[in-house]
Amino acid sequence: MSRENFLESVGVGSSALVSAISKASSLSEAEVASALTYPKELAHGDLAFPCFSLAKQWKVAPPECAKRVKEALELPEDFERVEIVGPYLNFFRRRAAFSKEVLGKLLAEGIALEPVAAPQKIIVEYSSPNIAKPFHIGHLRTTLIGHAIDRILRSLGHEVVSINHLGDWGTQFGFVYAGCALFGKPKEDSIFELVNLYVRATGIKKAQEEGTVAATDLDKPDVNQMARDYFLRLEAGDKEATEFWQWCLDISLQYLRQLYARLEVHFDHYTGESFYRDKLDGVEKTLRDSGMLEESRGALGVDLGKKLGFVRVFAEDGRSLYITRDLATADYRYQHYDPDKVLYVVGAPQTQYFMQLIEVLKRMKHPIGEKMQHVAYGNVPGISTRGSLGKDDKIWLHALLDEARDRALEAYRSQVAKKPEGLEHDEAAQLTLAESVGLGAVAFNYMCRGNTKEFHFSWDEALSFQGDTGPYVQYAVARINGIEQKAKLEGIVATSDCNWKLIEDDSAYQLVQMISKFQEVVELAGRDCEPYHVANYVLDLARAFSLAYRALRVVGEDKATATARLSLFAAVRGVLTKGMYLIGVPVVDRM
Ligand code: ARG
Repeated sequence: MSRENFLESVGVGSSALVSAISKASSLSEAEVASALTYPKELAHGDLAFPCFSLAKQWKVAPPECAKRVKEALELPEDFERVEIVGPYLNFFRRRAAFSKEVLGKLLAEGIALEPVAAPQKIIVEYSSPNIAKPFHIGHLRTTLIGHAIDRILRSLGHEVVSINHLGDWGTQFGFVYAGCALFGKPKEDSIFELVNLYVRATGIKKAQEEGTVAATDLDKPDVNQMARDYFLRLEAGDKEATEFWQWCLDISLQYLRQLYARLEVHFDHYTGESFYRDKLDGVEKTLRDSGMLEESRGALGVDLGKKLGFVRVFAEDGRSLYITRDLATADYRYQHYDPDKVLYVVGAPQTQYFMQLIEVLKRMKHPIGEKMQHVAYGNVPGISTRGSLGKDDKIWLHALLDEARDRALEAYRSQVAKKPEGLEHDEAAQLTLAESVGLGAVAFNYMCRGNTKEFHFSWDEALSFQGDTGPYVQYAVARINGIEQKAKLEGIVATSDCNWKLIEDDSAYQLVQMISKFQEVVELAGRDCEPYHVANYVLDLARAFSLAYRALRVVGEDKATATARLSLFAAVRGVLTKGMYLIGVPVVDRM
């Protein structure tokens, strides 16, 4: 783990070192802090200071600079020694004292993260599926990324307002309405029926546009016109149209809320597009007053020039559009929440759209324009479930989660068959476990790469117990629980008050060092809105634990050593648990 990957800010317990190097070198503290790195190997110390930029300033060779700094340096109390290796100064901490500092609070108070120095008010808008259209599997990624960003920012002390900007207003309801008119209202109130009607109606619309209507459908009226007429009535507040819309909304929300509960996702507000329907006149007025509104081919919009083009804000027949509602939304959020930042976790295909939206607001001189940020994410092609034909957009999210659970259950049962002792036999308990493992597998697989990276989802890759997966990380926690249980039988329990000298050896200290970096990693993830930093950290820590644990026997050691080691493991578990929570990977007690 190299320092370059982390924040400019100073890691735990290094501020005294920064000011000491600053004094000895005449560099500013900021320069020193940004130059300090984490050596790759423990043998090179805890922190390293490269002398290259100093060499330029002093016009002296880097190794000579290192010598001079060392001579002038007053080594802070926390450090045991400093060594020169070529152009580097390598600093070695007093291990026991550092372990006490890093682990003591964690074990005593269970606190793994501190609030940042300047907390902000941040709106995180994510998930935002379209109602009455199929829940596109693409919405899984915004749901997971947004949820992780929400938790990461909150855990750093920011005031987060999470919003689900449901796509619950628009011409799409007109297609469901047309579907009902053409094929009859479904007997059952089910989201599957609604979507089925939407798919059938838009199918006919497409055929009508392309002139490929089937013989049996030749008598059908113009479906596109039906949909538009319906939406115009809805926007005008027509009673029957509104009741129909409400019916669709209720059915869809019931399905969505179940899904969110399953993912443990919670929103502060479900204020979707419909929430702004009575605020659209304001948008038109503001745009008109600013003199930006122009007419083009019957529609009203704003000309943003060569790069961003002409943006339609109202359709020819006066219907509001996606952007109309987003303009009203942005203004409302500004008035209502006065946020420092607004994050939109929305797919990369809408990048141009958000550039337009933000540009219109900036030209209107609306202060919110400067605070909005599109957090884009890449497509995940190739997802398929056993029941589906492998067409990405035909997969229901609940079906994906069901399959993850079933596959985890199969894997678990085959484990039980191979090695029955110690594993869970109760069927209901197995099912609960499989749900968590399945969810953890999917969530981790999505979280372990950068937002904009496209990747192919593979069941085998996501669920492997040996690979870079959620189950692997879950297993590390379960193993620590197992160690703890065995130790308890011998009267050994974790404590914040143990002899830290007993975990000074490299394999144990490596874990302490990793734990000390957790805060920085989470801050980095929060600053860049990139949860994968946390996912990769959690995986690294789980791996380091699995390696160390072989060398660090607990039961069978003398009591003091056993206690110190168990306490270290308990701290590892605390950080793993928090990290998993941040990226939506459930913790399981045993596996
Ligand atoms: N409902 C939209 C979609 O599924 C996403 C909404 C994004 N948020 C926004 N404020 N436009 O494509």
